[in-house]
Amino acid sequence: GKELYNEPYRPQWHFSPEKKWMNDPNGLVYYKGVYHLFYQYYPEDIVWGPMHWGHAVSQDLLHWEHKPVALYPDRHGYIFSGSAVVDTRNTSGLGSLENPPMIAIFTYHDPKGEKEGRNDYQTQGMAYSLDHGDSWTKYMGNPIIKNDGFKDFRDPKVFWNDKSDKWTMLLVAGDHLQIWLSDNLIDWKKVSEFGRDQGAHGGVWECPDMFKLQVEGSKEEKWVLLISINPGAPNGGSGTQYFIGDFDGETFSSDQEENRWIDWGMDDYAGVTYNNTPDNKRIFIGWMSNWLYGQQAPTKKWRSAMTVPRILSLKKIGDTLSLMNYPISQFNAIVENGIPKNITIDKKEKTQVGFDNFNQAQVTFTTDAKDFQLVFKNGLGEHLDLTMDDHKKLFFLDRSQSGTTDFEKDFASKEQQMPIGNLPSGPLEVRILLDRSSVEIFIDKGQYVMTAQIFPNENYDTLSIENRSDRTINLRNFVVDGIHGVWR
Ligand code: FRU
Repeated sequence: GKELYNEPYRPQWHFSPEKKWMNDPNGLVYYKGVYHLFYQYYPEDIVWGPMHWGHAVSQDLLHWEHKPVALYPDRHGYIFSGSAVVDTRNTSGLGSLENPPMIAIFTYHDPKGEKEGRNDYQTQGMAYSLDHGDSWTKYMGNPIIKNDGFKDFRDPKVFWNDKSDKWTMLLVAGDHLQIWLSDNLIDWKKVSEFGRDQGAHGGVWECPDMFKLQVEGSKEEKWVLLISINPGAPNGGSGTQYFIGDFDGETFSSDQEENRWIDWGMDDYAGVTYNNTPDNKRIFIGWMSNWLYGQQAPTKKWRSAMTVPRILSLKKIGDTLSLMNYPISQFNAIVENGIPKNITIDKKEKTQVGFDNFNQAQVTFTTDAKDFQLVFKNGLGEHLDLTMDDHKKLFFLDRSQSGTTDFEKDFASKEQQMPIGNLPSGPLEVRILLDRSSVEIFIDKGQYVMTAQIFPNENYDTLSIENRSDRTINLRNFVVDGIHGVWR
């Protein structure tokens, strides 16, 4: 019907479940032309509950088709986060060479064990599908990995590594990563650990991922490890850190000293990447929310959405190797190109740009000055403020007056900021995507990224731009593009 996917705050081109509660993306795998997206799902309520795996499929990562719930809780417990692979060589023996099984490996969370105060209630389980993910059978010998006493022991990410010729599993155990290997996806052996004394530890380690990337413009290859932590993110609550290092097939090591974050906003959590993508592209999707307030967000029929799918790359900028994340190029296909112009703003002056609906639009420009403020406003006086401060080398996001914010006190925190100390001295791209209830900001093609939920009570229709520097600012190729909705 017309109402469906047109409700207030309903994202028009981000994935959101038709109804009820969603959290982490799970089982991201590409197979025979189809991108699968499974996700943590509670089909009975709009808050977290006994977890299932919801399921959707897409050919372009933008237009999604909903599938029936893939995995239901069973006697071993709820179905927590995990990953999926296609067992092409039928190493598991659960399918055949002609029809290789799709295999999901996930965490079982046994609520009874938790209640009894035991600490072995999270184990790893497996399920397989012989019809491309449409129907699933739980493996008879579950759980495939038992727990020897880690209260938090979860979120298996499995991938094939040709270097060791092994299936490789990343698991998190409270404060560290464990790496396990297998020949058949069923029998696993732990081979190494990482991270007890490295990285941010403000909260439990969750949702690991690891992959190799070639450094742009060179032959050098590095491995990147993603670890989500909750709490302990730089702007509060949940966030995702990354490590750049090396992996020899058994052990991951990194000499990185500082904590690094894939996204500085409060609303990009538990993000992981696709297995088996064409051309080896690394495509990342995160849950666009935060455990601090996700369950109180002011939507009634469904709760939360995924980030725009982003392509990950490694780039050397100055002396620093950085993990970049930037919207996939398929995204350009749903953009209604606006007309680029050059905007000149005298020192300390302001200019205004009008657009009927900034909440379904993209704003892009190139600037050589780094002291300005962008304010998106609506007729109700609500506004979202984005400030780049070259003197402090910080970018600020202030959503305290952006719309409905009073559902949880941390949501409107004025302190949200991102250090931007490694910007190039020349022209700099700023790209901002807005989709009704979210804003994603990509600075320098994804070197610095902030994602935030917003709940304005009317579309923003005015963008005011203030030059805060003491020289003239030239914004080149300034363009506002409308964005097509993709839900029918
Ligand atoms: C991350 C997380 C995972 C867990 C899942 C439960 O948001 O806490 O560690 O598997 O959510 O829904």
